[in-house]
Amino acid sequence: MLEVRDLHVKFHNRDREAVAGVSFTLKDGEILGLVGESGSGKSVTAMSIAGLLPRKKCDYRGDVLVDGEDMLHANRALLRKVQGNKIGVVFQEPMSAMDPLMKVGKQVEEVLEIHTDLSPEERKKRAIQALEDVELPDPEEVYNKYPHELSGGMLQRSMIAAAIVARPSLLLLDEPTTALDVTIQAQILELLKKLNKKHGMSMLFISHNLNVVRKLCKRVAVMQRGVIVEEGSTKKVFFHPQHPYTQHLIECIPARVKVIARKHAEEEAEEAGQMQPAEGGQTVSADSGNAASADSGQTGGDRNG
Ligand SMILES: Nc1ncnc2c1ncn2[C@@H]1O[C@H](COP(=O)(O)OP(=O)(O)OP(=O)(O)O)[C@@H](O)[C@H]1O
Ligand SMILES: [Mg+2]
Repeated sequence: MLEVRDLHVKFHNRDREAVAGVSFTLKDGEILGLVGESGSGKSVTAMSIAGLLPRKKCDYRGDVLVDGEDMLHANRALLRKVQGNKIGVVFQEPMSAMDPLMKVGKQVEEVLEIHTDLSPEERKKRAIQALEDVELPDPEEVYNKYPHELSGGMLQRSMIAAAIVARPSLLLLDEPTTALDVTIQAQILELLKKLNKKHGMSMLFISHNLNVVRKLCKRVAVMQRGVIVEEGSTKKVFFHPQHPYTQHLIECIPARVKVIARKHAEEEAEEAGQMQPAEGGQTVSADSGNAASADSGQTGGDRNG
């Protein structure tokens, strides 16, 4: 569904490449976590996938294929076709991503106006359905509100509704919970899991927080200075980190969380009658091949267009 091959991006006003040869794949219905320190190139990677690179300000090469469409070199018409329709994007700051002067419901259905010939009534129906999908308590009321009338958590849910209203096959989430308090953060993670299960939506989930990624993603890639330094099943990366930078990231997680995580992993392995993943030698496709039995409950389930 998504294939990134040897992606390089260098901004003209920088000496070093922001992305310096990144390759990874994402299968149908899979959630991949992308973690790494600030400035490691996570967002630039996501922008390359969404076709949002400021192309005049950088040199870029490699392949970014979304269902076979090359997003890195796509022309405007193709980008317009794919953005929102095939790929939904959610960013960290819901307030800055929303137009303060436009009602939430109108912003949610905007993408349908661009990509479908649905009637205004039908668009409204779909938008309200999307607001319901993200479990907002009174979708019709939220539809008629302005962004400043909603809490941060409700706004972020609305942003997710806008990203999924056209049922994209790929959702890019760039630090979608960082601005939220811990309780709301946990609710959003649960919501993403449900959406993944219900619609089989593939997701690339970007965070600098390995613990948040652990809760959502079966597989994780760790970035540092523009390259992926480690990649594998989340369990393996979490419990047997190979790269010094990953080891450092995990050392920053409180011991209490690590103990609970290990217990969960052991229980799940017991339930599934499986052994812990073997150390080393595991390829990406071997990890992602059994996504349906994932600890994070990811599915390759059906998707409505
Ligand atoms: N428009 C731009 N012009 C010039 N340099 C840029 C631009 N966007 C990003 N960069 C640079 O590219 C590098 C990677 O940035 P990126 O935003 O991908 O980091 P990140 O991993 O998402 O970090 P964070 O966790 O802080 O969001 C950084 O050195 C950044 O300064
Ligand atoms: Mg970023």
